[in-house]
Amino acid sequence: MKAAGAAHGKVILLGEHAVVYGAPALAAGIERGARAEATTLAPGEASRLDLGGEIIAADAESSDDRARAFAALLAEGRAAPAVLVEATSELPAGGGLGSSAAIGVAIGRAVAGLFEEAIDGEAAARAAAWERIFHGNPSGIDTAAAAIGGCFRFTREHGAHPIQVVAPLVLCVGWSGSTSSTRVMVEGIARLRARKPEMVDKSIAGITALVANAALAVEAGDLGGLGKLLDLNQMILAGLLLSTGPIEDLCATARAAGALGAKLTGAGGGGSVIALVGDDAAAEKVLGAWRGAGFSGFVTRVGVSEGAI
Ligand code: MEV
Repeated sequence: MKAAGAAHGKVILLGEHAVVYGAPALAAGIERGARAEATTLAPGEASRLDLGGEIIAADAESSDDRARAFAALLAEGRAAPAVLVEATSELPAGGGLGSSAAIGVAIGRAVAGLFEEAIDGEAAARAAAWERIFHGNPSGIDTAAAAIGGCFRFTREHGAHPIQVVAPLVLCVGWSGSTSSTRVMVEGIARLRARKPEMVDKSIAGITALVANAALAVEAGDLGGLGKLLDLNQMILAGLLLSTGPIEDLCATARAAGALGAKLTGAGGGGSVIALVGDDAAAEKVLGAWRGAGFSGFVTRVGVSEGAI
């Protein structure tokens, strides 16, 4: 028996890290994502994952995160049959675009699809088990974006609520040139908060206010206002030591080329930057300026949510 699954990559528009502490964030699924196909094997065969050509056996004791994550995904809920899962991703691992969550959701959907009777939320629960191995303390925003696409407001307590996007958001996504580990970056903020609780909590409060205003700006189609809020969020993230030289260069280059606002997206410490632009012509200018400065990037458009799994 065979079953397939697919999922989106994501960008966090505003609110990363604060969302781990219960604050709201705005995120969106992007067109690039991951795909998986699950095929049942003969009983007794070992389950394995073919991740872009690399074969990884499911192993709860392995030192390889992917082997443990695959084992956790298969062990979640109903006992899965022995399976071969072939998965591919269009997203760079450690690039801030939700690669691991997209792969986890695609595999979760493929494995859940092998059962004759569907159970609500099974694919999401399997994806969450996968993601916990990579992130330790994920807020769930990456797997939500991978599953539903579109633009949404998210809190740990209430999950994802789609936002009506009046004018599709045109975003340039720039690559800083280095990967980062979300787990390490999230642990870094936890350590900073243990040392300087007031400073981190004030930052979280500031981000909470920016997210509330950004949701209103998206719903009103106020792109100029949204751009300014992205810039302010970037200042707070830099204050939390999440930015890097290349991230600041990407943001400054994008703004100088006419972007309405720019910030890191995801865990920071490397990964990707988003720059909001008014239209496709403006996007070409930003991408050209990034190329001139030695950076690469692509354009993505964010519309309304497509509905939850
Ligand atoms: C990572 O894409 C977003 C973080 O806020 C972590 C999380 O919410 O799980 C840094």
